[in-house]
Amino acid sequence: MSATQGKDGYFLAGDDEPERLRIQAQVWEPDAEAMLERIGVMPGWSCADIGCGGVGVLGPLSHYVGTSGRVLGLDADRALLDTAAAYTRAEGLHNVELQQGDVREPNLPRCSFDLVHARFLLPHVESPAAVLDNMISLAKPGGTVASQENDHSSWSFYPHCPEWTELLDLLERTFALRGDINIGRRTFHMLKEAGLQDVRIRASVHALQNGHPYMRMPVIGARAMRERMIAAGLVTDREFDTLVQAVEQAIQNPDQVQITFTLVQAWGIRPAA
Ligand SMILES: C[S@@+](CC[C@H](N)C(=O)[O-])C[C@H]1O[C@@H](n2cnc3c(N)ncnc32)[C@H](O)[C@@H]1O
Repeated sequence: MSATQGKDGYFLAGDDEPERLRIQAQVWEPDAEAMLERIGVMPGWSCADIGCGGVGVLGPLSHYVGTSGRVLGLDADRALLDTAAAYTRAEGLHNVELQQGDVREPNLPRCSFDLVHARFLLPHVESPAAVLDNMISLAKPGGTVASQENDHSSWSFYPHCPEWTELLDLLERTFALRGDINIGRRTFHMLKEAGLQDVRIRASVHALQNGHPYMRMPVIGARAMRERMIAAGLVTDREFDTLVQAVEQAIQNPDQVQITFTLVQAWGIRPAA
């Protein structure tokens, strides 16, 4: 069992998670690049992707910093780091190193990165403000700290499917057992409150059609958390199956479209000491 699995571990851990993260990284890659462009990541920079999972933004970071730079991917989950190792090997990302560690007690040198980044991490920790402080402590004075997180306001399905709304509600209530899946609404202000300067924000949504595999993301996430949902009394076995089956069926409709959740990107500068 990996570090983040089990009762107190990463809620989405499981066999389908590497593939879910791969598709997710592909969908949001242009936005990751747009943010790195806005930040002004330069060749030679030293960057950390905290909670990188199996892909994260290791590829875009690796390309931006080039052969003179370096990228460190940190994650608590051994199995996802193995996926990341296979990915960086296959893509020839020679400037990427991977390390197992917990962002709540990071085993990384302080004040050492030009950019410290985390995507889809803060809802999975009980104290996101403390994690943000840890990320800031890893950045050099004058370095950048960046976050990319969800805001579900835009997430919708057309033609309307009532079970879709119910499934999203169930997902939100399950994530609430640990954190706030909609934390993207707050990250701009969290970064300011944590003392970062010149805080910027960018947001993006995607439209999915033709049975795009990312349309199934909420179903894959729900399946990974099924036991946890049932144990917490949020849904019964039977209700879960009915809900998921109805959403799976709706996705089969070739005319079904989905507007994704909003990805909120926020970043700021660690003040010079
Ligand atoms: C939803 S995934 C996102 C992965 C990646 N950032 C991406 O954008 O594809 C969340 C990741 O955070 C990692 N994680 C959760 N809690 C963590 C912790 N306390 N320390 C380090 N990594 C953690 C999980 O193992 C998982 O890989």
